[in-house]
Amino acid sequence: MRHLLSAADLSLPEITEILDLAEEMSTVQNRPVKKLPALRGRTVVNLFFEDSTRTRSSFEIAGKWLSADVINVSAKGSSVFKGESLRDTVLTVAAMGVDALVIRHHASGAPWQASQWIDAHVLNAGDGTHEHPTQALLDAFTLRRHFRRTDPTMIDFSGKTIAIVGDLTHSRVARSNVLLLQTLGAKVVLVAPPTLMPSGVGSWPATATSDFDDVLGACDAVMMLRVQRERMSGGYFPSAREYTVGYGLTRDRLNLLRPGTAICHPGPMNRGLEISADAADAADSLILDQVAAGVSVRMSVLYQILGGADDPASSPVREATLR
Ligand code: ASP
Ligand code: CP
Repeated sequence: MRHLLSAADLSLPEITEILDLAEEMSTVQNRPVKKLPALRGRTVVNLFFEDSTRTRSSFEIAGKWLSADVINVSAKGSSVFKGESLRDTVLTVAAMGVDALVIRHHASGAPWQASQWIDAHVLNAGDGTHEHPTQALLDAFTLRRHFRRTDPTMIDFSGKTIAIVGDLTHSRVARSNVLLLQTLGAKVVLVAPPTLMPSGVGSWPATATSDFDDVLGACDAVMMLRVQRERMSGGYFPSAREYTVGYGLTRDRLNLLRPGTAICHPGPMNRGLEISADAADAADSLILDQVAAGVSVRMSVLYQILGGADDPASSPVREATLR
């Protein structure tokens, strides 16, 4: 794998390999010394033009636990604020000799564009309303673990129904998840008010409805999405209260889920708007598992991209370091 730009670029065997290696990587989280030498001498730059808590810090932790040198550059505090363009910023960072660029940008397509300008590997950490592929991978990792509790040998998600609920129009998490879950063989149900249902959703590999209550009892997982106010210019719903009544995972709706239905949210959450505290903190809530999975999955992806056989950093690290 040269870059990770879109969930659509990953085949089922590639996804399975990433998730299986992430399982191995997750053992590092419980070690007293959280360090593998796998990416020693490699340099990763996190270039973030939008705010982030989870993605940026988990890419940083993942790189550091693999012994890469990780540098964070955010738009705030960089020469972007002096008017430097995306291209000049990317070329400048690349000119320092970085091996991988992890980029989050408000423009859809920015990571792809960066990959055309430089030789370094590029990883999409969220581009506009387009995609967030490592989020979809960590969601799949978390759900696979959850499903394997009752079906230890499951490989793909065939037979599973996953509802993705909320602000679909502005969600790159939803787009990447729909693509990845399609490859994994899941049935995806998209739930949103008509005003937040993306145009063209008819061509997505999913079914769509605006009736949340109708799907609650038929899901194996519900993935709640944040209402992304920062991307909204007009009024998409009459009031926060009405949104919650129609599309919030409230305490009442929690009771309509089948026992064992997984509750996911990529974070950050608007508690009390799209998700109630009862749901966020429920026994079947996987929200903090998703955060933990972010480190393991990003370790796996960084290793696949920077430590592979066709890379100068290649060495029998996997056998040597994951023991
Ligand atoms: N953190 C995710 C993203 O950056 C989801 C969200 O912000 O609602 O896409
Ligand atoms: N889920 C997610 O991408 O979170 P951050 O925006 O905090 O990185």
